Amino acid sequence: MFLLVRRAAAVIAAGVMVSGFAVNGGASAQTSAPGEAGALQAATLREAAEAKGVFVGAAVNNGRLGDGTYSSIASTQFSSVTAENAMKWDATEPSRGSFNYSGGDRLVEFARANDQQVYGHTLVWHSQLPSWVSNGGLSAGDLRNAMNNHITNLANHYEGSVAYWDVVNEAFDEDGSRRDNSVFQRTLGDGYIAEAFRTADAADPNAKLCINDYNIEGINAKSDGLYNLVRSLLSQGVPIDCVGFQSHLILDQIPSSFQANLQRFADLGLELIITELDIRMRLPADAAKLERQGQQFASVTRTCLAVSACAGITVWGVSDRDSWVPGTFPGEGAATLYDENLRPKPAFNGMLTALGGTTGPGPDPDPASCTANYTVTDRWNSGSVVRVTVTTGASLSGWTVTFALPAGSVTGSWNAQVGQSGTAVTATNASHNSTVAVGGSFSFGFQTNSGATYTPPTVSLNGTACAPA
Ligand code: G3I
Repeated sequence: MFLLVRRAAAVIAAGVMVSGFAVNGGASAQTSAPGEAGALQAATLREAAEAKGVFVGAAVNNGRLGDGTYSSIASTQFSSVTAENAMKWDATEPSRGSFNYSGGDRLVEFARANDQQVYGHTLVWHSQLPSWVSNGGLSAGDLRNAMNNHITNLANHYEGSVAYWDVVNEAFDEDGSRRDNSVFQRTLGDGYIAEAFRTADAADPNAKLCINDYNIEGINAKSDGLYNLVRSLLSQGVPIDCVGFQSHLILDQIPSSFQANLQRFADLGLELIITELDIRMRLPADAAKLERQGQQFASVTRTCLAVSACAGITVWGVSDRDSWVPGTFPGEGAATLYDENLRPKPAFNGMLTALGGTTGPGPDPDPASCTANYTVTDRWNSGSVVRVTVTTGASLSGWTVTFALPAGSVTGSWNAQVGQSGTAVTATNASHNSTVAVGGSFSFGFQTNSGATYTPPTVSLNGTACAPA
């Protein structure tokens, strides 16, 4: 019989909300079946996940936030964000005692603007350390001080902003023993893990504190090692709340014991998170592999939903263009939900469908599923130039935009084929801009033979009137 620590017990008993996100409530949180009254027709991962009581997150690369399509996917599809690199030790304390929070703060701001949870990654890890920590030059006492100081400063700085912390990352070797190439393990011994959790708890008593690792999704030597450690930490009253299963998976090799493994950790009274999901394949990708990948993203999603303590799933990278996989496993990739052009893949549909959402139109279609900006950018006595920018709430493969031109005739166009019949103007995509991701935008322009001024007309996308942007 294990002593459930206060933190973990409270989380499970109360289904605690963190930043508005509840732990997956299991059967009670399931939405009704399609066709029933109130059947979920969510078109975004975020809406669908929320209805199931789980969060859906993405690892975000700050350097990509300037790309409108990237940031709009990151904000509209995901309810949680993890800094892919910006909160790691090398980024936040490059030299001893000198802290740089700029990257992490940027992500916290992004999350706040988009009503998202922030998942903190990571406080103590043997990798991505600055050389003053990794070079082994610090004595045990000094390294202990440095570790505790690092944890305290980060957890204090992000208190109230970060809902979860990966306090200790990748502490195990594949055989279930403690990782021997970790400077913390080598210098401080086994006790550094409990100490790191106690320090994090003192600095931010409200954040949920997780231990995170890879290749622990199935029941195997490594997950056994972690299970035994977590059980022992709980019995000592160490404040640990959650286990992160990174889930860097390989196509067609999803561990069959995934759910049973999650369940045994859940039975200890802990919350579980799938923290870094991706499913890589040998390149080139083809339709059959992408289809199977979609089924496997769906299956991992259903695995989380089947275990009520599973609080959420984070995908490691918004798109295949951003993924760490090709850089680490040459010849492999295509591991995320969106392709290199940020178009949703079957993996996206698989995850969305498993969450109870649908890619088709629902019974209550969102009247503002697009927005449009119609601007006369230039005007003279006998002519004008118009730019139309449309942002879509659905993914598109080909588009038709219509509106009534209040004055004159179209005499030329770019980025679209533009035709006119009376005042009715129809613009269809060019070959280079036919596909647009959910939340993405496209623009086209045309010239007319009238310089009259007028109120911008209503613009429709594929027959649906767009709200003015
Ligand atoms: O910041 C430097 C830049 O100054 C330099 O010019 C450039 C040259 O290569 O490197 C930049 O650092 C890179 C860093 O990402 C930031 O972009 C590193 O080379 C690169 O190795 C590093 O990769 C990250 C990797 O962790 C490092 O271990 C990946 O982006 C990140 O996705 C990956 O994430 C880890 C999780 O944190 C833990 N679990 C496994 C997962 C995948 O490896």
